[in-house]
Amino acid sequence: MTRQIVSVIGGKDEPTGTPYLSRNPARLKEVVAEVALADAATFAAACRNAAAAQHDWARVPAPVRGRVIASIGRLVEANAEALARLVSEEIGKPYAEALGEVREIVDTCDFFIGEGRRLYGQTVPSEMPDKNLFTFRTPVGVAAVITAGNFPVAVPSWYLVPALLCGNAVVWKPAEYAAASAAALHRIFSAAGLPDGVFNVVFADGAQTFAGLETALGEGVVHKVGFTGSSEVGRTIGELCGRHLQSPCLELGGKNPMVVMPDADLTLATEGALFAGFGTAGQRCTSLGTVIVHESIHNDFVARFTAAAQSAYVGDPARKVLMGPMLDQKFADRYEEFLTWIGDHHTVTGPVGRITESNPCGHFLGDDPNEGLFYHPVIVDGVRPTDRLFLEETFGPIVGVTTFSTLDEAIELANLPGYGLSSSIYTRDPQAAFRFRAGVSAGMVSVNNSTSGAEAHLPFGGNGKSGNGSRQSGMWVLDQFTRWQAMNWDYSGRLQKAQMDVAEIVPDLEYKI
Ligand code: UN1
Repeated sequence: MTRQIVSVIGGKDEPTGTPYLSRNPARLKEVVAEVALADAATFAAACRNAAAAQHDWARVPAPVRGRVIASIGRLVEANAEALARLVSEEIGKPYAEALGEVREIVDTCDFFIGEGRRLYGQTVPSEMPDKNLFTFRTPVGVAAVITAGNFPVAVPSWYLVPALLCGNAVVWKPAEYAAASAAALHRIFSAAGLPDGVFNVVFADGAQTFAGLETALGEGVVHKVGFTGSSEVGRTIGELCGRHLQSPCLELGGKNPMVVMPDADLTLATEGALFAGFGTAGQRCTSLGTVIVHESIHNDFVARFTAAAQSAYVGDPARKVLMGPMLDQKFADRYEEFLTWIGDHHTVTGPVGRITESNPCGHFLGDDPNEGLFYHPVIVDGVRPTDRLFLEETFGPIVGVTTFSTLDEAIELANLPGYGLSSSIYTRDPQAAFRFRAGVSAGMVSVNNSTSGAEAHLPFGGNGKSGNGSRQSGMWVLDQFTRWQAMNWDYSGRLQKAQMDVAEIVPDLEYKI
């Protein structure tokens, strides 16, 4: 029987909505879930509900909230295989990667369990006697979290876990094409004992979500927006939040560069490029955009990279493949458009486009490629800095290659598209690695590692078109979900005026040795 997925607000199901089918992208005939998409009014109602529940949740001591996060981690571990299978079935991510994604939720919980017993404020000396200064982290209020479906459970957990731990209530709007995975994660979180209304999930399309968010911001029942998705949508969310004097946490697209220096270990660089370019079928925000390879090793690198891509297995995500299908039909359609950007001055070896019986892939693992959204991995050599393929994010299994002669030129090329999420350099020279780190505009830099694979306790986020400078993960995300409150307590029994009633110790500034 097909799963029926509905929004859950204040602990109650919201069965009404526009029907939507979440399909298995590897076998489009298979419906993974029937989803009822809510309207803007329902989204706004969820935010009101969350606001009503938040006050009591914030009064639960942080160490106790930390215990709830501990339970979520255990529940995710206990359900890891089932959740990974569902993610793999719903968005086509190979099972091993899906299991890694589930692991990332547990890692996030592990980190924040301890934060429940820290969530430190400070005691600060006052400039006056008999007066104490303190700082406290206070929850923001209600967080509206809107996430993409390429990491349908791990990336949401980067928002959900710290937001809840810090004493906020949450309204989560997952990607509709990953609704079954999201609903499963929501049920796991709820099983850990979160009070009704503290964590609500609303399935809705982009337009209704935006309208509902606008209402909720206007009513003052949303205090933080977290958004993972395209730069284009991020910009409109940023504008909306700005009008309400709020700074959202935006995690947007990337055109992530990989610089391959002349002294690089080419076997390692090829392996890194293959995983970064074609893992998750190139649909991570950290996926490799362009390889910027030194002119002296260009031919050697391209030969190795092309051979690796052409011998990689594509197909059924339940089997041992490098990449499965595209996430959903809309991503396949957009990817087909990116393929039209390949021009006459480019060199592409091997097949391009959808894998079918008439456009076969020699390394297809699965029953019938026609049944799913499977695409050939594509390497486009000879991209130029003025090409759309060089300048714009191309979500999907396509990687550009260009050349450089000096490190400065490589850094300039790496920064040119104006994104700034992830980056990588392959070199054995520490000077080159550190000069690259200092020069590249990205929030994340890998040395001798792919552009993907961030660990859950380092700051994750980007600059330029990749975000607004906010950072997720580790202790850095606490500044997204708490606000600092400064307190002073004067116990002198008189009014001591700051800056005016301050004792002065007079130095002899004429003193010379
Ligand atoms: C994303 O694509 O939104 O570093 C996040 C990585 C993953 C997270 C990607 N851990 O590739």
